[in-house]
Amino acid sequence: MIELIHLGKIFSSANGPIVALDDIDLRIEDGSVYGIIGLSGAGKSTLVRCINLLERPTSGQVVIDGEDLTKVKKSRLLQIRQNIGMIFQNFNLLEQRTVFENVRFPLEISRMRREIRDKNGKTRTVFRRMGKEEARARVNELLELVGLADRARSYPSQLSGGQKQRVAIARALATNPKYLLCDEATSALDPNTTNSILELLRRINQTLGVTIIVITHEMRVVESICSEVAVIDRSSIAECGKVQDVFSFPQSEIAKELIIPNLIRSAKSGSGTKLRLVFQGENSDTPIISGLALDCGIAVNILYADTKNIDGKTFGHMVITLPDDEGQAKRGRKYLSEHGVIFKEEI
Ligand SMILES: Nc1ncnc2c1ncn2[C@@H]1O[C@H](COP(=O)(O)OP(=O)(O)O)[C@@H](O)[C@H]1O
Ligand SMILES: [Mg+2]
Repeated sequence: MIELIHLGKIFSSANGPIVALDDIDLRIEDGSVYGIIGLSGAGKSTLVRCINLLERPTSGQVVIDGEDLTKVKKSRLLQIRQNIGMIFQNFNLLEQRTVFENVRFPLEISRMRREIRDKNGKTRTVFRRMGKEEARARVNELLELVGLADRARSYPSQLSGGQKQRVAIARALATNPKYLLCDEATSALDPNTTNSILELLRRINQTLGVTIIVITHEMRVVESICSEVAVIDRSSIAECGKVQDVFSFPQSEIAKELIIPNLIRSAKSGSGTKLRLVFQGENSDTPIISGLALDCGIAVNILYADTKNIDGKTFGHMVITLPDDEGQAKRGRKYLSEHGVIFKEEI
């Protein structure tokens, strides 16, 4: 588990101090795919760089599996970092090395944890560099995993963006980490390639049990693979929770702005009493709206709808205006309640 406790980071600059993180509390459970979203400059990259102490926090603690990284010695920190892989928007591959050599690189520079038996039959933990043959087998296994077994001898310049990210993922997994940090890993990729990388990350989470932290400004990435999400706004956490909850009922202004920007925009236009309807798979939207007309004699105006039908169930949001007539508006609300529609007076 990763716990960030009262985490703070202040950069000094020519124009004075910049507060990049302010009193961040976050808990990331093992096995989850945790999304972190926010506008550019909100502090996302700084946050993720604090997790492996690439950036040293100014205050607070980074506790991983019970160990406070801000307190450990340099040598221990290097060991812990083997347990935390990282991938980036621009892949950061070594251009002079082949795909195979890129993936092998972490195995060349790190000493891996080993349990060995000494001559008295006692088990000891040692840290050793991986042997050549074992490293080769490991690299081939990783290239197989990311679907690039046939590109081992290629150089990064000969690969597409998606393939480069696959190499970066294989490299990040070389030391068999428990955690994988992804900083805008799909932001430089087209939608189809993004999907295939997300599919790979999902597989890595589900089959290898790697806990994945996904920094992104793309909401569909979060919807697609994350189980939890935290929203950062100007160095603080605005809200966090299960993706389904935060995406259905964003509370903070920033979360609404990020998650349902078009809804906010259209809801600001037009007059009258507005309601936001949230569909979480229980109802089908059309009968509700036509029901308001047919059963209650109320004509509602749909200002915004972004709903999708999955297996006959409806998910998404809708903004409607109720009639000015108070009696009618009341009947409308009652009808919605009786039909189990979740609605919010506040947009
Ligand atoms: N090394 C640095 N030195 C000074 N300021 C920095 C440094 N890194 C980031 N910042 C500042 O910290 C804030 C958060 O940056 P960052 O974490 O990169 O945001 P995000 O990843 O959400 O776009 C920004 O105001 C940025 O300019
Ligand atoms: Mg960033």
